[in-house]
Amino acid sequence: MSLANGRPYLAIPGPSPLPDRVIQAMVRPSANIYEGELSQTVETIIPDLRDIARTKGKVAIYISNGHGAWEAALSNTHSRGDRVLALTTGRFGHGWSEAARGLQLDVVVEDFGQDKTVDIERVAEILSQDKDHKIKSVLAVHVDTSTGVKTDIPALRRAMDDANHPALLQVDCIATMGCDQFEMDAWGADVTLAASQKGLMTPPGLSFVWFNDRAAAARETADLATPYWDWKPRVKPELFYQHFNGTAPTHLIYPLRTALDMIKEEGLENVWARHETLARAVWAAVDAWGTVGDMRLNVADPDMRGRSVTSIYLGNGDGDRLRHWCEHQAGVTLGIGLGRAPTSDWFRIAHMGHVNAHMTLGVLAVVQSGLTALGIPHGPGALEAATQVIAKA
Ligand SMILES: Cc1ncc(COP(=O)(O)O)c(C=O)c1O
Repeated sequence: MSLANGRPYLAIPGPSPLPDRVIQAMVRPSANIYEGELSQTVETIIPDLRDIARTKGKVAIYISNGHGAWEAALSNTHSRGDRVLALTTGRFGHGWSEAARGLQLDVVVEDFGQDKTVDIERVAEILSQDKDHKIKSVLAVHVDTSTGVKTDIPALRRAMDDANHPALLQVDCIATMGCDQFEMDAWGADVTLAASQKGLMTPPGLSFVWFNDRAAAARETADLATPYWDWKPRVKPELFYQHFNGTAPTHLIYPLRTALDMIKEEGLENVWARHETLARAVWAAVDAWGTVGDMRLNVADPDMRGRSVTSIYLGNGDGDRLRHWCEHQAGVTLGIGLGRAPTSDWFRIAHMGHVNAHMTLGVLAVVQSGLTALGIPHGPGALEAATQVIAKA
């Protein structure tokens, strides 16, 4: 007998659960990639993508995952040897730095560890010491999916402005677009990146790079720009196929259109509020479990926690044991302790994208069952605490 039979739930932080409407949007014959409905659909997607990032800037769409977006952003704004300052709070900040190094940029990594947010005063100090303005971009990850640590983007912008530093502010919103509040223009990001498979509820395979006029000006001298990644023809195509630099990703465009419709129907601010509430339900449960044994939330300060993923310490290799139990006994796949040492001491719960109260409460009940079945020490009252959060929302 297995209690895992039934609809499985992939509660990892991307790819996130696909809405049935999004899946159905893919079930259709190939479309004309030169003119007609497909090209009209892309024309409707672009303004909606700008709305979701809260920008009046431009957006280029790539057939790639987030790694591609990293390279697209860097190669359109830099020349070989340019210095960039990478602020890291987890695995993905380091990943972006590695991409920058691979592009022969001079990467200065300022590492804030795995459980604390970016120290804005430290960034201000680095920028004020950079008298010759050698740093051309500051790279920040809005929420690092491996740790759940959030970076205060408006505070970072203020620090850059206060230092009168002209570097571009580039923000990886791959874990947050369509989940956490993000305001590209109001918060002063010059370049923003995201991918399709998380808050945007679409299969992996599309990424997005939004950029403002300052970043567009940097493109004019960027010698790293290559024909495929160049954002210029993508945002001002003379012919439809130039949007994608070749064949359009037909069967990702229709689901993306549907996912954007769903976000518009719900309202972006309501989407953010839903993520906020589900995150708080998870945190309340973990706090209660953590009153006995070693379990704890990775990030102590709630303001500095991502709203789409929560990283949790269990210790004793119990993270892996719990994940396996939940997947094989109850049909819920939790996130691995990505980037942690040892990985097996950690697990992550995603509450990202097409997720509602019954899904998150279900995950929490399954986790509690697993903790009990495996004899992992934990405190009482977690499910009650989570339901209180939902009830009061
Ligand atoms: C914050 C962040 N940045 C970048 C990436 C890399 O994206 P991808 O795996 O789609 O290449 C991820 C993936 O999870 C991520 O969470």
